[in-house]
Amino acid sequence: MSSSNRTNIPNSLNEHWMPFTDNKTFKKNPRLITDAKGVYLTNHQGKKMIDASSGLFCNPLGHGRKEITEAVSKQLDKLDYCQPFNQGYGGSFELATRIAKKTPEGINRIFYTICGSTAVETAIKIAIAYHRAKGDSKRFRFVGRERGYHGMNIGATTVGGMINNVKTFASVLMPGVQHMRHTHLPEHKFVKGQPDTGVEMAEDLERIAMNFGGENIAACIVEPIAGSTGTLVPPKGYLKRIREICDKYGILLIFDEVITGWGRTGSAFASQEFGVTPDMITMAKATTNGVIPMGVVAVKEEMYDAVLDSSKNPEGTPELFHGYTYSGIPAAVAAGLAVQDIFDKEDIFNRAKEMSPYFQDGLHSLKDLKEVVSIRGYGMMGGVEMRMKDKPGKSGFQTFKHCYDAGVNFKNTGDTLIIAPQFICEKKHIDEIIEKLRTGISNYSKS
Ligand SMILES: Cc1ncc(COP(=O)(O)O)c(C=O)c1O
Repeated sequence: MSSSNRTNIPNSLNEHWMPFTDNKTFKKNPRLITDAKGVYLTNHQGKKMIDASSGLFCNPLGHGRKEITEAVSKQLDKLDYCQPFNQGYGGSFELATRIAKKTPEGINRIFYTICGSTAVETAIKIAIAYHRAKGDSKRFRFVGRERGYHGMNIGATTVGGMINNVKTFASVLMPGVQHMRHTHLPEHKFVKGQPDTGVEMAEDLERIAMNFGGENIAACIVEPIAGSTGTLVPPKGYLKRIREICDKYGILLIFDEVITGWGRTGSAFASQEFGVTPDMITMAKATTNGVIPMGVVAVKEEMYDAVLDSSKNPEGTPELFHGYTYSGIPAAVAAGLAVQDIFDKEDIFNRAKEMSPYFQDGLHSLKDLKEVVSIRGYGMMGGVEMRMKDKPGKSGFQTFKHCYDAGVNFKNTGDTLIIAPQFICEKKHIDEIIEKLRTGISNYSKS
């Protein structure tokens, strides 16, 4: 079928090997999305659903934003591509300046990547390059955390802490990576916001530093709030303590804000929300409202200076041998700039902050449902954990299907439903999400 007369339903589902998907089951009973507008999605059966996870945390500004699509289309007409190595175009510099205005002070050098995984991979390389630039090339170790998710390249997979993502690939993972324990304790089950207990989990970093030599550790990477494992909110004081231990040993701290960045917590970045400043911040997803892939690493100015100052390369050769063909391409940048305009014009982060208590109250109102064993959340993100049945992940997926039938769409991760509404949601949309979750979860319980 030619692309000009393509229908909503393809002739064959066989050829596309879908990512992170149970391909066998999906292809027997596909769920295809055909249209998206505002907070709603429509599937190939014509059913309208509310999008309760902003895609994959990608579209906080809602679907089908004209300002973004028009900016991209205009850019494509004018300049569709230019190579990003030793050449450039004005937009990428403008976007870097706009991003740097919103990142914490001093974290103002912007490296573009293609997605969250490549942002994390890049941050890992920049950490090594920085230490080498400072004459500290013995630092090769990295510290991640259990139940962390940082993407699927080799480095990002290694520092991540989700067992299914690593066990098949153990033979090719990066050496020298240790993991702290995750911060989710049994008493955090129905805690709204930051738990009071668990700050001592940060001492795992101290312990790893003692065991392996803090002077050998290049960086520690954490999501300020673990998103992909269902919103694990850091205990009060935890991130601050991690920062202190990093400072004690000269370890760089990377906040992976691919999910928490751009307003999800109610501040531009979780770093500002929790008052802890890392050395690098990775971001992606909402940077372009999800419409064109783009990742970003925001780096401390002094790190950028150190890498550039130490370079003895002849003129025309890079200081950092790293980059991507699609680093900061014009279409992605155009989307990014349009997104920045909307952030400012619609005071989006404050809007998210104002809606957060209403959303969190709604989410926690599901506590009475008998199959729900835990609810946690912060800002405009939350996790609803279902009682495990037979095998991990089964009840989460069954609940997802019942909710989909009830008209609310999101992603489940294992047995946890990931709920992350769009920031343009009004109270009536939050009510609709909660009501449909209640219906879907109740129908699952009866099934
Ligand atoms: C915190 C975090 N880091 C990295 C990634 C990887 O991003 P991508 O899928 O764009 O490569 C994700 C994806 O969900 C993420 O949540």
